[in-house]
Amino acid sequence: MISQERLDIFLETLEAGAEPIPPQIEEEALKAGVPVISRDAQRLIRTILAAQKPDVILEIGTAVGFSSVFMCACSDARIVTIENYAKRIPVAKENIRLAGYEDRITLIEGNAGEILPSLTGPFDLIFLDAAQGQYIAFLPEIRRLLRSGGILITDNVLMDGDLLEPHTAVQRRFRTIYKRLREYLRAIMEDDGLVTTVLPVSDGLAVTVKK
Ligand SMILES: C[S@@+](CC[C@H](N)C(=O)[O-])C[C@H]1O[C@@H](n2cnc3c(N)ncnc32)[C@H](O)[C@@H]1O
Repeated sequence: MISQERLDIFLETLEAGAEPIPPQIEEEALKAGVPVISRDAQRLIRTILAAQKPDVILEIGTAVGFSSVFMCACSDARIVTIENYAKRIPVAKENIRLAGYEDRITLIEGNAGEILPSLTGPFDLIFLDAAQGQYIAFLPEIRRLLRSGGILITDNVLMDGDLLEPHTAVQRRFRTIYKRLREYLRAIMEDDGLVTTVLPVSDGLAVTVKK
């Protein structure tokens, strides 16, 4: 079994150079226990952005803005990002300002469940990185907002591997999330209009293309 930590260190020695992002954005987020996209997810997203060259990206789950800033640094896209946790919003705004992307990133404050129906799109790429139990409820709007040929990237779909275990092996308090996440994966895998793969990247990353 390859250790993710050793692989990260090895690949970082090979990488030509990191994106020009103020390093304190990721460092301070990690210090404060705020989730940010993992290094392996960063590599995959950077590669997808280089191949797809999106003009407009929708992100659900800004946190403190690290992934928005990262996707801006890796592409020429404009980004609409949604966050509902009031404490994180001023930090995200400050990080976006610090990185110099205020003109390309629009932060919408509020619950994605309420905001998504008001958006018109279409978006070339959607990055779904919010509360996993809500993914299935967001799916109809996400599907509507994603253009044909667009890419949906969904983070944290394997719950640290728990999703591969029987329902009874999962702690009781996580069972509803587990059930909804399985419904979400079934929905994106079985939909004839979507092509999906789930990769053991980050905490499980699903990459979906809308036909
Ligand atoms: C995993 S973090 C996002 C990390 C960020 N994408 C990054 O990599 O820098 C998930 C974020 O989604 C937000 N969130 C969860 N459910 C949401 C909802 N329904 N509407 C808006 N934001 C939501 C949480 O408050 C949290 O900050």
